[in-house]
Amino acid sequence: MRMVSTAVVLLGALVVASAAAAADLELGKKIYGQKCASCHGPDGKGNAKMAQMLKVQIPDLAVAASKSDAELLKSVSEGKKPMPSFGKTLSKDELDAVVHYAKGLATGQSK
Ligand code: HEC
Repeated sequence: MRMVSTAVVLLGALVVASAAAAADLELGKKIYGQKCASCHGPDGKGNAKMAQMLKVQIPDLAVAASKSDAELLKSVSEGKKPMPSFGKTLSKDELDAVVHYAKGLATGQSK
């Protein structure tokens, strides 16, 4: 009997954990759409019109795939000219989520 209830608890924890991961991705996707896609494009390959307007190269986010989460988090929260800083406008959770999502785009994991 005891084994069964332990199993139920473990299963419950697993469901909660994967729901949290899914929510994270949803949050990241939402923020990406609102704050990042205008420059980086919906697929992370860069918005050519915006690049022309700003007279800059917007790198394909694929280049970000080789960097650590901490490095990317730093670029996004502090900004990297001409990219604005998002450290003040987004919460820590939102930053984490959006960096995660951007990295997923870079590696082809989030669609
Ligand atoms: C105004 C246009 C603009 C917006 C908005 C913008 N970016 Fe950027 N982003 C850039 C440009 C330009 C670069 C290249 C900067 C450089 O390397 O000089 C860049 C670089 C990056 C990099 C690579 C950083 C690195 O360390 O190499 C990541 C990751 C990134 N952006 C994610 C995001 C995310 C996530 C958002 C939304 C929260 C966002 N960007 C919003 C223009 C923008």
